[in-house]
Amino acid sequence: MVEALNINPHPSRSKKYPDLLPQIAAIMQTETDLIANLANISSILKEVLGFFWVGFYRRSGDDLVLGPFQGLLACTRIPMNRGVCGTCAREKRTIIVPDVDKFPEHIACSSLSRSELVIPLIHNNRVELILDIDSIQLNDFDDDDVRHLEELVTMIKHHHFTAAI
Ligand code: SME
Repeated sequence: MVEALNINPHPSRSKKYPDLLPQIAAIMQTETDLIANLANISSILKEVLGFFWVGFYRRSGDDLVLGPFQGLLACTRIPMNRGVCGTCAREKRTIIVPDVDKFPEHIACSSLSRSELVIPLIHNNRVELILDIDSIQLNDFDDDDVRHLEELVTMIKHHHFTAAI
C-alpha cells in the first residue's frame, strides 16, 4: 500500500503531511474495520515519516491496551495512572515530551527512544484511543506535527466513531 502513495520526497515532515493526509483519508474510506485501518496508518507514518515507533493504544476499562503498531516490541498494557500515555488519557490532551528522561511518568519500552508525542482520540468525553509516536532524536516533535497528527486522529474519529458507517 505504501508503494501506492505519492509523497513529496522533501526530507522535512511538514512538507510531507499535506500529501500524506488526504491519501490516508482515501485509504481509510475503503475499509470499515478500525484495526485494519490503524495497522495501515501505523505502517504509513513509520515508513513515510521515519519515526522510530508508531502505534495505537486502545482504552480497555482502566487500562490502555496495545493495538496496531510498527516498530519494536512494546508494553502491552498501560494503567491509566502510568506513563505518558496514561497521563494523556487522564488529562485528555496531546502531550509532547521533548526529552523522555525528564518526564517522570515515562515508561521506556525501548532505551533508544528519546522524545515522544501522544495524541488522544476523545469520543463522548472518553478517551478511546491514543496515537503514540516515539523518536530516537531529542526534541523531535513540534507544533506542526501536532497540528497534522491531531487532524489525522480527527479523521479516524469521524470515520470510526462518529460517522454512520
Ligand atoms: N512511552 C510510553 C509507553 C509506550 S511506548 O513508548 C511504545 C509511555 O510512557 O506511556
